[in-house]
Amino acid sequence: MRQAVVAGNWKMHGTRQLVAEFVQKFIDRQQLGAEPSQVQTVILPPVGFLAELSDGLRGTHLATGAQDLHTHSKGAFTGETAGSMIRDLGGSWVLTGHSERRQYQKETDRQIANKFVAALDADLCPILCVGENLEDREAGRAEQVVTAQLNTALQTIGIKRLAAGCVAYEPVWAIGTGQTATPDQAQQMHHSIRAALGVLDESVAQAMSILYGGSVNEKNVEAFFKRRDIDGVLIGGASLNVEQFVMIVDVVAAAVASR
Ligand code: 13P
Repeated sequence: MRQAVVAGNWKMHGTRQLVAEFVQKFIDRQQLGAEPSQVQTVILPPVGFLAELSDGLRGTHLATGAQDLHTHSKGAFTGETAGSMIRDLGGSWVLTGHSERRQYQKETDRQIANKFVAALDADLCPILCVGENLEDREAGRAEQVVTAQLNTALQTIGIKRLAAGCVAYEPVWAIGTGQTATPDQAQQMHHSIRAALGVLDESVAQAMSILYGGSVNEKNVEAFFKRRDIDGVLIGGASLNVEQFVMIVDVVAAAVASR
């Protein structure tokens, strides 16, 4: 069975107080035996909070990580963070190619693929984010755009190495808008991503966890998990409230148990 993942991307939000709230909540849950082991829960705070969060969550089932990394392992790159540093701060996961970085930092598919490889070299689990914008969706070329993003990245990463990470489908028009893709739209795209991977390696395609992201919350998450190609969720806004985030984890755990 593919790994179920709930990842919370805090983006550029949060405080040390929020870190403390998350740590307290998840330590309490761990002690009560309430933390579901069948769901890999990951929190991706701003990198400045990573050490404190990772240290606090040590001994729990939760993992932490970063929202981006540099392609180089070190060097004169002011303001950047290397994969090895994310490891050193206690992180084990990292996002690559989030649509906000594609949009605001003009990251290209090639650069994103290099980041994915740099993450693997640093022994991190990378999530490759793909997704179409509204214009692409309305023009009926969503699958074409997403498959092209995936295939361009695969030229650098290679299918075998991609298998060490995850893919996240986040339609740009659904991010932070409150307008999710319908579970059917998400399922269709996840299916076509898996089919594209299957052309290269069917066993990798079957084993790959593909996450959906875009306005997921505790109320709509269950419907996504009823679709067979949706293995996880990448949460933005709803990951900033510990009670809401915990509810999502618990709904996912129940959905996975009943699969
Ligand atoms: P929202 O859940 O706020 O729509 O954000 C999704 C996202 O971009 C997660 O990476």
